[in-house]
Amino acid sequence: MDISDIHLAPQGDSKIAWAQRAMPVLRAVAERWQGSRPLAGLRISACMHVTAETAVLMRTLAVGGAQVRLCASNPLSTQDDVAAGLVAGGIPVLAIAGEDRATYFRHLSQALEHRPQLLMDDGADLTTLVHTEHPELGAELRGGTEETTTGVTRLRSMAADGVLRFPMVAVNDADTKHLFDNRYGTGQSTIDGILRATNRLLAGACFVVCGYGWCGRGLAARAAGMGARVIVTEVDPVRALEAVMDGYAVMPIERAAELGDFFCTVTGNEHVIGPAAFARMKDGAVIANAGHFDVELDLEGLAAETSARRRIRPSLEELELTSGKRLYLLAEGRLVNLAAAEGHPADVMDLSFATQALTVAQLGRGELAAGVHRVPTEIDAEVARLKLAAMGVELDRLSDAQQRYLGGWRTGT
Ligand code: NAI
Repeated sequence: MDISDIHLAPQGDSKIAWAQRAMPVLRAVAERWQGSRPLAGLRISACMHVTAETAVLMRTLAVGGAQVRLCASNPLSTQDDVAAGLVAGGIPVLAIAGEDRATYFRHLSQALEHRPQLLMDDGADLTTLVHTEHPELGAELRGGTEETTTGVTRLRSMAADGVLRFPMVAVNDADTKHLFDNRYGTGQSTIDGILRATNRLLAGACFVVCGYGWCGRGLAARAAGMGARVIVTEVDPVRALEAVMDGYAVMPIERAAELGDFFCTVTGNEHVIGPAAFARMKDGAVIANAGHFDVELDLEGLAAETSARRRIRPSLEELELTSGKRLYLLAEGRLVNLAAAEGHPADVMDLSFATQALTVAQLGRGELAAGVHRVPTEIDAEVARLKLAAMGVELDRLSDAQQRYLGGWRTGT
């Protein structure tokens, strides 16, 4: 293991316990697994954001009998106290907040020294490393799970190139994941990150959201809810139309650049805001990214136009451009909700991680062929049912007659 400071364990433990209180579905899975231990003896290497919610997931997998080893899926998202709490409880962690690129990849390689039978990935860096540097591990791997949109996109490219050697389940694409985590989780935690970094007022400001996918929809809704005027930029005509009908202005980034006070990318694409847009921005504009990788803002293009930079607050840098204008960059362009805040609230990660846990148990049986797979709809339905029950929400049941009606075709006008 390689963490910052084991003495932080008590603080990490209390954070983990607090998160666990808000994760009733994962608690129900753990209770069920105490007897059945579906992961008994299986080695899992997980590359995920080292947060309190991830810690609850790791402990649940351990209750199911797995031997888990965790590394970070982003150099800035690790919570050192949580890492210490996990290590003190017997789960090895390789993650230090702010680690450099070389340390980040060393930690991934050390996670693979575990010789995993199952992978859990968030962004597909670990899966890619198996294929590029440790192909010998492929033979023993029963498969893995992928948590985020960008990772699923990478896996589909690997499958299309004919190189993906084992089954990977796209947890991101499960309804109980992207409908809630990407939308409500990213919406709330991105605003949280921007506010913690800047302590600025959103009411009355102009907030530009680049990308109107699952994350962008949530972010736009929450920014509007705080009183901001929201502009959306898109490349997909259907998504752009949806944004228009949801009540937002839609325009190209170069035009939005002149109007925005806050900018946040959430596209999964590179260089969504580039030099032409930076040049048009107002003095004092705040720029951030909540997409998975730090490629969405053209940081090299921005650096080329920057004459001086200084850190003002922990996740806030002032960049003085050669034109004399100042722009404020949050969290070095990395996911602002995890680097400047604590990521999604536990209540919503309960859904994503219960879906992860049940999917991993199914993968452990080793029945899937190489390729990218969907989460079975029964897992989605079960996770949603358990969450509703925990919330005390009841729903109606189809009567026999209704079931027959829905299954028939003879009854029409
Ligand atoms: P999505 O595929 O639903 O939406 C992305 C949208 O961006 C699409 O509508 C696409 O047309 C648009 N887009 C692509 N290039 C663009 C460009 N140049 N300009 C404007 N729009 C553009 O993806 P989703 O689920 O919303 O995820 C977006 C990113 O956020 C991914 O990288 C994903 O991995 C990441 N993510 C981050 C989370 C966080 O905690 N910060 C949580 C979940 C996902």
